[in-house]
Amino acid sequence: MSGRREGASSATDPEAGNPPIRRLDGWDADALSDLAATYDTPLYVLDLDRVRENHRRLEAAFPDAEISYAAKANALGDVLETLLDAGAGIECASAGELERALAAGAAGSEVHYTAVNPPAADLDYAVEAADEHPGLTIVAGARDTIDRLAERGYDGRLGLRVNPGIGAGHHEKVRTGSDAKFGVPADRAVDVLADAADRGFDVVGIHAHVGSGVSGDALESHRKFVARVGDLARDAVATVGELEFVDVGGGFGVPYREDEQPLDLESVAEATRDALGEVDAQLAIEPGRYFVADAGVLLTRVNTVKEAPETAVVGVDAGMTTLIRPAMYDAYHPIRNLTADATADERETIPQTVAGPICESGDVFCADRELPASERGDTLAIGNTGAYGYEMASNYNSRPRPASVVLEGDDVRLSRRRETVADVTRPERTARETVEDKPERGE
Ligand code: LLP
Repeated sequence: MSGRREGASSATDPEAGNPPIRRLDGWDADALSDLAATYDTPLYVLDLDRVRENHRRLEAAFPDAEISYAAKANALGDVLETLLDAGAGIECASAGELERALAAGAAGSEVHYTAVNPPAADLDYAVEAADEHPGLTIVAGARDTIDRLAERGYDGRLGLRVNPGIGAGHHEKVRTGSDAKFGVPADRAVDVLADAADRGFDVVGIHAHVGSGVSGDALESHRKFVARVGDLARDAVATVGELEFVDVGGGFGVPYREDEQPLDLESVAEATRDALGEVDAQLAIEPGRYFVADAGVLLTRVNTVKEAPETAVVGVDAGMTTLIRPAMYDAYHPIRNLTADATADERETIPQTVAGPICESGDVFCADRELPASERGDTLAIGNTGAYGYEMASNYNSRPRPASVVLEGDDVRLSRRRETVADVTRPERTARETVEDKPERGE
């Protein structure tokens, strides 16, 4: 059993090609329904072969670049292992992601830790990890972070995150390139780099990230962004001598809407090469979404169908705690009724609002969308959920997080079990136990 496309779009089948986007329609409805029946819902399904295909397209477009995967998009161990095995590095945003990358077998030289206002425990962990795993690079986004690294006795490999003053992305909440929170302002970057080099740090690169979900329409912003990074890189090389890498971050968008066209990676790569052509340093990129978004679907089951005067409300067992992107960014995700598809039912298509079980009006996956009339017990698939799906799941309303299965060749396996309510309440229960173990005050 496999949830992959009928006729196989597998990486192991050279005939199948490697299309720039895998649409929700391309998944095998019967196989996905079987997965829902076997593992229950809500269920994240991730096709590791598709993750490899996405990596191969990036390699083809950026043959000279060092390619890393931004683990924040989906930090499942199976994904990290798959991409390390394919030759990618891992970009980590926290001690937890660092721990996962190292546990997946990453060598120090394959890991970048990008520190955004890093909590002390994260810096402690990163400094220790860099000591134990030579080659690990810490990317700081503030002079203050460099001071805190120095206080910990660190003077190893250092990258500087620069704020280029240009942002782009699918929503204002993800346009980091122009947000003061991220990186050292461009006009101060060279001073900060020179200062770090004077203090004995091994200054190895500069880094900038424009934002997330940048579409083909925003190619002009990308051009401006990489041009700015190119100027900075030239100034930096002139000041501190050699740089190993210039990292232009991630952000490559994928089409979520059925009629949206995929990003022309070649044009993005060409614009990047044009801007950085004469910089004597390795180009580095670190996309997250592009690797995993279309490799994943979320399966959910209809539990309530209600006719309201304005719309038909379809209640499902996944909610904003399972997939928050629609609630948080008004993000569009394609939705398919697998039961209606699999049984070739002649169902009427009517406008429906697919809503979760959370007590918030924002807990909807779509409003008034034309879909085959849902019935209680139907299985729905929500597409393009491999990136920032499970990773952003929460326990709000004391809801356990869902299970994840991965597909690889003909293999289907549970990659992460479903949480139970006992998992959710455990920190509270164990806190009480710890308190009970403590001596009475005054003893
Ligand atoms: N590098 C850095 C430093 C980043 O902050 C990010 C994403 C990436 C790389 C990867 O960006 P990507 O290629 O995945 O666009 N939760 C939001 C996206 C937040 C992205 C945060 N940073 C969403 O669901 O759209």
